[in-house]
Amino acid sequence: MKHDTVTPYKTSDPKKVQVAQMFDNISHSYDFLNHFFSLGIDKLWRKKSVRLMKAVAPKQILDVATGTGDFAFEALKLNPEKVTGLDISKGMLKVGREKIAKRREESRMEFVHGDSESMPFPDNTFGAVTVGFGVRNFQDLEAGLREMHRVLAKDGMAVVLEFSKPKRFPMKQLYFAYFRFVMPLLGKLISKDKSAYNYLPESVMAFPEGQDFEDILADAGYRDTRRYPVTGGIATIYTARK
Ligand SMILES: C[S@@+](CC[C@H](N)C(=O)[O-])C[C@H]1O[C@@H](n2cnc3c(N)ncnc32)[C@H](O)[C@@H]1O
Repeated sequence: MKHDTVTPYKTSDPKKVQVAQMFDNISHSYDFLNHFFSLGIDKLWRKKSVRLMKAVAPKQILDVATGTGDFAFEALKLNPEKVTGLDISKGMLKVGREKIAKRREESRMEFVHGDSESMPFPDNTFGAVTVGFGVRNFQDLEAGLREMHRVLAKDGMAVVLEFSKPKRFPMKQLYFAYFRFVMPLLGKLISKDKSAYNYLPESVMAFPEGQDFEDILADAGYRDTRRYPVTGGIATIYTARK
């Protein structure tokens, strides 16, 4: 199945409407389930992603599909002037803004409601643009990546963190069992949205990865694409320059 036809509720609504609704529904359990399911490893992946941006020392950072902001908070470690987060789900942003207030980061962080395919920022604005577990949910992947490229400053860096599929025994077998059976069951019980944790493995299975994803980045206008598989290939960090 082509990745952009995989949707959470399988209704006739556009993918982005269904995705926003799903994340609104699970926004209150998202942080808990994220760290619970990954045993906290997702935090290490965001840390490594941010370390890869150190060389460009970005002053303005945009975190696309910021959700509740975990990638955006991690990006503060680079000491930028400002981190802007953008997301299509108002529910996720509400939880994220509560975290900003609690951590008293209002002066360095701002979350904006919007769509990755048409962002409310001028061309060449950000030294780095990040997206964590977001591109898989885009309705039009290529349009989202082109839009990220548009708002990046010359020589700026894009960092994409996304699930991938481990290829080797035993990680491959463990991962498939966990993703296909354990996660949908627990996700349904805890998040109260039975579709969300079926959509997660389905969307990962259909999503391009490795060289295929690097080729898509190059087609969207990026140069110097690289990839760093992490934790046996459960996820991959991609970097690219404008
Ligand atoms: C799995 S969450 C990831 C959140 C965060 N980046 C993280 O690392 O935990 C995916 C987020 O992508 C957002 N999203 C999906 N499609 C989007 C789009 N077209 N524009 C902006 N945000 C989008 C969803 O609303 C959701 O908050």
